[in-house]
Amino acid sequence: MIYLDNAATTWPKPPEVIRAVSGVMEKIGGNPGRAGHRFALAGGRILENCRELAAHLAGVSAPEQVIFCLNCTDALNTAIRGTLHEGDEVLVSHAEHNAVMRPLMGYHDAGKITVRILPPEQDGLLSPDTVLSAIGPKTALMVLSHASNVTGILQPARAIADVCRSRGVPLLLDAAQTAGTEDLSAVGADMIAMPGHKGLLGPMGTGLLCLGRGMLPRPFREGGTGSASESMRQPDMLPDRLESGTANLPGIAGLCQGIKFVLRHRTAMADYEQALRRRLWEGLQNIPGVAVLGGDESVPHAGVLSFNIRDLDSGRVADELDRSGIAVRGGLHCAPSVHAWLGTTQTGAVRSSLGPFNTEADVDALLSAAEKIAKG
Ligand code: ALA
Repeated sequence: MIYLDNAATTWPKPPEVIRAVSGVMEKIGGNPGRAGHRFALAGGRILENCRELAAHLAGVSAPEQVIFCLNCTDALNTAIRGTLHEGDEVLVSHAEHNAVMRPLMGYHDAGKITVRILPPEQDGLLSPDTVLSAIGPKTALMVLSHASNVTGILQPARAIADVCRSRGVPLLLDAAQTAGTEDLSAVGADMIAMPGHKGLLGPMGTGLLCLGRGMLPRPFREGGTGSASESMRQPDMLPDRLESGTANLPGIAGLCQGIKFVLRHRTAMADYEQALRRRLWEGLQNIPGVAVLGGDESVPHAGVLSFNIRDLDSGRVADELDRSGIAVRGGLHCAPSVHAWLGTTQTGAVRSSLGPFNTEADVDALLSAAEKIAKG
């Protein structure tokens, strides 16, 4: 299989990630923080090691500000539900995924908050000036998709973070498509949500919420933490406040190795994926009938590239590519405003997304297969 669906989850994983997962399953039987025996302590050390590495990656000052979550959606829900109050206004970019929009629109439709979707410029970028002029007295949160999961367009997150900070509005960064390739510590966001299983190369079922200093969301899930067990009330301190129930220790052990890999190779991986994306973009330009979507190449992109072939349904194209041994994602990609902006609400989009283990030959195989489909 030629795997070009890394925006959904990266594959393959580095061997040390797989070894770490099975190492926990085979050799560490305990539940971290729930006992004092050596198995439980060994598990606890894995959690703390991963927390320290993730804090370094995200640029947060203390490991306890890193919260283990189920995935990026869970991290976003933890941040959104724990931060907002009745009467608040939330600003979002047009590029948000439903992981952001659905929790927000639930509150909006119930009349609890107001959500404002900020329009992009023609090139798909959200201008920091648009954010500045939208901030009002009730604005309590700005949520920004760092890079679109449909077009790959990378937003000027640092400039938007500066604007938000100047007006005292916390910025929640959805780093679903950038954790692992972009330097998140340089953005200056107040909260960063990331999947563990995409660019961080960990297993599915892992995610992180990294909290800036002073950010203390209310828990929306409560329960046993292994701490303050004499009390029937949720502890206030981080990370226990936001981490209830048994952790995904095998997953986090794998994530820990994934983050180590990323900390060693991030810049090289980002450059490599950009070179592959460029090759794909150039090749697609030369195939009659192929339209690259959101394709103004003067703006920066993550390693995601979507296209359509003539007026063919994107799901059918993806199925045909699958029959040729190429995995991409067709259809709609859980980001309705982006499809509306692209005009692809009916057709969907064929999304290819690159990872650090793809090769030029993978890209060339996709180009040949797309050319064959375009010729009919
Ligand atoms: N949100 C992931 C995607 O874009 C799953 O495919």
